[in-house]
Order: sequence, then structure tokens, then C-alpha cells
Amino acid sequence: MFKINTNYQKLPGSYLFSNIAKKVAAFQEANPDKEIIRLGIGDVTQPLTKSVIATLHSAVDEMADGATFRGYAPDLGYDFLRNAICENDYKKRGCDIAADEIFVSDGAKSDSGNIQEIFSVDNKIAVCDPVYPVYVDSNVMGGRCGSYDPSSEKWSDIIYMPTTAENGFVPEFPKETPDIIYLCFPNNPTGTTITKSQLQQWVDYANKNGCVIIYDAAYEAYISEEDVAHSIYECEGARTCAIEIRSFSKNAGFTGVRLGFTVVPKDLKCGDVTLHSMWARRHGTKFNGAPYIIQRAGEAVYSEAGQKEIKELVGYYMNNAKTIRSGLEEAGYEVYGGVNAPYIWLKTPNNMTSWEFFDYLLENANVVGTPGSGFGPSGEHYFRLTAFGTLENSKKALERIKKL
Ligand code: MLT
Repeated sequence: MFKINTNYQKLPGSYLFSNIAKKVAAFQEANPDKEIIRLGIGDVTQPLTKSVIATLHSAVDEMADGATFRGYAPDLGYDFLRNAICENDYKKRGCDIAADEIFVSDGAKSDSGNIQEIFSVDNKIAVCDPVYPVYVDSNVMGGRCGSYDPSSEKWSDIIYMPTTAENGFVPEFPKETPDIIYLCFPNNPTGTTITKSQLQQWVDYANKNGCVIIYDAAYEAYISEEDVAHSIYECEGARTCAIEIRSFSKNAGFTGVRLGFTVVPKDLKCGDVTLHSMWARRHGTKFNGAPYIIQRAGEAVYSEAGQKEIKELVGYYMNNAKTIRSGLEEAGYEVYGGVNAPYIWLKTPNNMTSWEFFDYLLENANVVGTPGSGFGPSGEHYFRLTAFGTLENSKKALERIKKL
């Protein structure tokens, strides 16, 4: 008789955004006349840019011609894209990263969920609390987190690093030394970030204690302040302790076409074994490369016109962030984030729980957000709104919220 991976049974409920989608669908069914504004999941609303669309069209035409048709993509990514990433995202920022240390994938979610596979099950992970749920859930699936305590909403073998208003959303070094540290800056869900010198301290800590940092930089395009690092490799010593995960979803609107990449420097080793060789082995075995047409579209993002267009796109969403943030402040909310990230993190009013506020907002303003407690226990009494909606809807949502 076959046996299942019982680690899956340990996971409470379903994936956060699937839960929310079900709740919203039920509300819409019961209230078909209500116009719901969705500021929950961080999904983009603006179309792909002109350069990306033109490139997609020509890449499709290439696939229609026997002379230019492509089959399987190289499993680690086409050189044209790896070189463009290396040049623009790393060399231009003074980061010592080579093109062959970049692994192209179908998105940051897959990579951040899959990366745990190359580590032993007895590694102890540390996460910020609140946190993007994929890091925790994927480690639970991999058998790494112990047991779940519903009363504390914590896993026995995870080290939680609270990031709340009390500590300025800056994680403190944990009392117990972890093996793997997940960091995401600019942060999802809080929309806050840390300075480059604070990040440097984490790199120093990891090198001193033999930890690996899995650094999710999916929101780096939203950084507006000077003293914030766009890549962890801007910090000295990061090549020996950090893996960086990036996405085309948030900067270029690729949520529906899927493209991302992970950087694993060859200096990152456990004894004689490079994590680079392990991730290459995993990629080669389980992945057949992101589609050619999508990788070409990714390359177009780095063209001169492409860069100008994505700057405008990011500017559009950051204008939404400003609208939401200032609107909430005017309405008397305590608000964080939205300056270096497309997420606005607010304190729920009147000590409501995050889910109480979710229901209250859905029922009374017909606005969907994400309950902070869905990201971890320290997210309780917080709530996330995304700036990825349209400007019109962001304004309308705030008008409704102000009237509550
Ligand atoms: C979010 O809303 O947190 C993100 O959009 C989810 C994701 O990127 O997978």
C-alpha cells in the first residue's frame, strides 16, 4: 500500500490566498450586486509593456519557422537572458556575480518553495514573523518544521523573528542560531525594509555562524530610498553565505507569464560541496527551462525602452501606494510600508483581529485585503493592502474606507 508524505497533513488549512479567494467568492455569490475591489493578493493589473509585447510577438513568429524554432530551453536559462540579468541587475550595481551563477526559472514562488530541497531535513530555519507563507509551508512539506501549535500558531522547530512596529520592522538576531535564514526586503507583507548597513550585519552574522541566507528580492524595483540595497550582493561577503531570488512579476508585470531567477554564487559551500552544483543538479533533473518566448520577453525588459517602461509601471503602482497610504493616514489609521514597496501595512482599528477586520472591510466597504495573521502570529492586528490595483480602484477603495 502506498504511503503519503504525511508532512502535508500537518499544514493547517489551505494556502492563504486560496482561503481568501474562497471567502471572497462566497461573499460575491451572496451579494451579486456589490462591486468588490480586490486589494488582497499582490497581483498586477497593468498590461505588459510595449517592448515586452512586441518581443513576445516576434518570438512567437520565430517558433512558427523551422529555421528559428526552438525546442527545450537550456535548463539553466538562455545565455542572452542570463547575460542581460548579470549586466543590468548585478554588474551595474557593482555586484560580483557571473552569468553562470544565475538560474532562470518560471518564477520566484517556485524557487523560494523549491530551494529547501537542497538542504538536509535537520536544518533549522529562521523566518521573519510575519512572513510570505511559501517559505514556511514548503519547509513543512519537506519535513523540517516539527509540529504546529494552533494556540501560538507556531511550528516547534522554526525560529521566529518578530518584525512589528515595536522594533521598527527590523528583525533581531535570534537567541538560537539557525542554519537557514529567510529574509525578504523590501518586505512582503509589511512593505517595510532595512538599510544596507543593517543587511550587511545579517551577512556578517551568517558568515560568522555558518548560516545560509535565502534572500528574496522580488520587490527591489520599488526601492525609492538611497540607503537600501537592491541586491544582497551589494554587501561584502554575501558570496559565501547568500542565495538571492528575483522575479519579473512585480517589476515588469509577468505574474501571468511566469519568469524569475535565482542566484547561487559558486563560493557558497558546505565543506567541498557547492550549493551551485546542487541547484544545477536539481534544476537539470526537475526543470526543462522557462519557455523561449518568455525568456526573450525577459530580455526585452533590459532594453533601453524596456527599462524606461518598467520605471513607469513601477511609478504607477507606487502612486497607488501613496494614494492608499495617505488616504489611510487621513482616515486616522496607523500605517506602515508603501515607500519602498507596493504593500501598505496597517494596524487594525479598535483592536480588531486581522480576520475580523477582513470581514468588516469586505462587508462594509466591499474591499478585499489580506489579514496580517495569515502571514504569522506577529501579523495579528495588522492588515495588508496591495498597491497593484488600478489607480481608479485604489482611490475608490479609500473613499469607501474613509466613510466607514
Ligand atoms: C502576495 O500577495 O503576497 C504575492 O503576490 C504572492 C506571490 O507573489 O506569490
